[in-house]
Amino acid sequence: MAMIAHKCSDHVVTVVDINEARIAAWNSDELPIYEPGLDEVVKASRGQSLFFSTDVDTAIREADMIFMSVNTPTKTYGAGAGRAADLRYIEKCARKIAEVSEGDKIVVEKSTLPVRTAESIKTILHSNAKGRNFQILSNPEFLAEGTAIADLENPDRVLIGGDQSPEGLAAIQKLVDVYAAWVPREKILTTNLWSSELSKLTANAFLAQRISSINAISALCEATGANVDEVAHSIGTDSRIGPKFLKSSVGFGGSCFQKDILNLVYLCEFFGLPEVAAYWNGVVEMNDYQKQRFARRVVASLFNTVADKKIAVLGFAFKKDTNDTRESAAIYVCGDLLEEEANLAIYDPKVPESQIRRDLNAKDGFESVTVCKDAYEACSDAHAVLVLTEWDEFKALDFQRIHDAMQQPAFLFDGRNLLDLEGMRKIGFEACGIGQV
Ligand SMILES: NC(=O)c1ccc[n+]([C@@H]2O[C@H](COP(=O)([O-])OP(=O)(O)OC[C@H]3O[C@@H](n4cnc5c(N)ncnc54)[C@H](O)[C@@H]3O)[C@@H](O)[C@H]2O)c1
Repeated sequence: MAMIAHKCSDHVVTVVDINEARIAAWNSDELPIYEPGLDEVVKASRGQSLFFSTDVDTAIREADMIFMSVNTPTKTYGAGAGRAADLRYIEKCARKIAEVSEGDKIVVEKSTLPVRTAESIKTILHSNAKGRNFQILSNPEFLAEGTAIADLENPDRVLIGGDQSPEGLAAIQKLVDVYAAWVPREKILTTNLWSSELSKLTANAFLAQRISSINAISALCEATGANVDEVAHSIGTDSRIGPKFLKSSVGFGGSCFQKDILNLVYLCEFFGLPEVAAYWNGVVEMNDYQKQRFARRVVASLFNTVADKKIAVLGFAFKKDTNDTRESAAIYVCGDLLEEEANLAIYDPKVPESQIRRDLNAKDGFESVTVCKDAYEACSDAHAVLVLTEWDEFKALDFQRIHDAMQQPAFLFDGRNLLDLEGMRKIGFEACGIGQV
């Protein structure tokens, strides 16, 4: 929304949220999300074309177009628990729009939703229409955290789905006009509603599948002496495969991949396609395996016990350039090591201590978890150092200094293949990465 406000300064964009603390943060100097370039975009438009408010009703009443961007987490209760999307927030939004709207509205699904959710939204809005006309569009968001601003500024494509009726096509055109302010027209794709909804789930399933595929090969590399980075490079030069998203790691995280694949799995089961469901579920299973495998390797290397040993963890965010920890591989690896009674010293450049403690269920005073101000403090006196997020600053650390301050032998486990392992071995580390011996 900040990018739309920035590029279409003749429009008024009002972001509303029921979370008062979040809106206060959006109106402050300290934005609630760390994302390179976001501060500049928000601060350039805030108070002119971009506003943040908790007054949901007024914003709905005044808007011609409403983007529903609420959370759609995995359902934790009832039918489909653990896989289906929890649509309660979407439904509440739809009901709110029906309740307070005074005129016609274009309602845009921006959240990632199961196929045919627009049908339910239509039913809610149309059965409360009272003479007002509601058009529903699907406009899934393809930005990636960490590169959100660049992705929004120069998207591979913008996707807009809508009814193919004259009113639907007119609504699609209105949203096309918004994006056409900065996105080349040929990159704005229009489809029917269901294709648009399904494309978002499919895109995330394919992206996650590439990571799980290369991670599966990483296990075979460790068993055979092949090097997964070399294999990834070799296959990525095949133009039919391509080089992106072939980086093997400790496992993918983030708020979207797992939730969206599980949602796809649930849809397949719902529509009576168990083979298709099992095929996509394998992507999530492989990711769980990769996270567990990493923790097991740490324990096995440290003479089969990490109990009472200090383990330094560098990086807690699910990837670099974000402070988001949702489904971060670090949470699972740390959880497994805490079960083995390790003492963890964790450092991340952007994730606050309170978030790390919440994720690990480690209240203040829980002695097995210490959150450190820098990498050197985390690694001092440690038996092993684990790199779990690929932050650029970790490449510039003085690893000789780190090594010399650790217990010997000093172990290093690079869960992102970020560091030069040969160089680390020369320093004296017992070093291992992913998919290489
Ligand atoms: N995070 C990403 O990178 C990303 C990328 C593409 C798509 N998506 C999709 O976008 C959606 C939102 O993701 P997110 O990461 O921003 O989630 P989030 O949980 O960070 O934010 C959702 C916000 O919606 C607010 N909200 C909930 N119910 C509301 C209501 N009735 N009225 C007003 N506000 C309400 C919450 O308070 C919260 O601040 C999800 O469907 C997600 O799958 C996210």
